[in-house]
Amino acid sequence: MLKALVFDVYGTLFDVRSVLGRCEEVFPGRGADLTALWRAKQLEYTWLRSLMSRYEDFWQVTRDGLIFACRTLGLAPSDDQIEHVMASYLTLSLFPDIAAALGALGSLPCSILSNGSPTMLDSVVRHAELEGRFRHVLSVHEVGAYKPSPAVYQLAENHIGLARDEIGLVSSNCWDVAGAKAFGLRAYWLNRQKAPLEALGFEPDGVIHSAAELVSVVA
Ligand code: 2OP
Repeated sequence: MLKALVFDVYGTLFDVRSVLGRCEEVFPGRGADLTALWRAKQLEYTWLRSLMSRYEDFWQVTRDGLIFACRTLGLAPSDDQIEHVMASYLTLSLFPDIAAALGALGSLPCSILSNGSPTMLDSVVRHAELEGRFRHVLSVHEVGAYKPSPAVYQLAENHIGLARDEIGLVSSNCWDVAGAKAFGLRAYWLNRQKAPLEALGFEPDGVIHSAAELVSVVA
């Protein structure tokens, strides 16, 4: 029986595309390309650093992904421009379907489980005025490895104090859903982009296209 949910943050609760404005402001005409390449490289670097056992926190990895994306696109930002664009990660937009979805879940305990550093997660939660809404705000920083390492999902089981099959992950990142299933959590794919299922050998326990559908799929 499902007794608690843990939410992914980037792409699930908060929209990483909301960095587009600052990217476009600093690099007119290049914002969309930069935003897309930046996110792709940020994730790739989390996987590579986990495999190398060379963890750096998500703020550092996010900055490194931005540096690479700028190099690839032939952009030469100043340090101030880098910091100005990076700061947008601290005030990402909450997806418009989240507040009502959390309300509809009633007393079901909800937590966060994210690659974000503690400082980054605290900032986006406060900026969205969601302090106190999540029972636990769990950062991979505690284990020094990134999703989909089993050690990350083990954090949920350890802190929430339930059996892994009583906990459900909600994520828009299908590879994160696969990682959670591989560990033994239940997992619900919030497929916002209507993307194809990853061929990673695991099926979500439910697939939804809006957080509004969450309460029905976890019932
Ligand atoms: C998160 O951990 C996967 O970056 C995504 O919030």
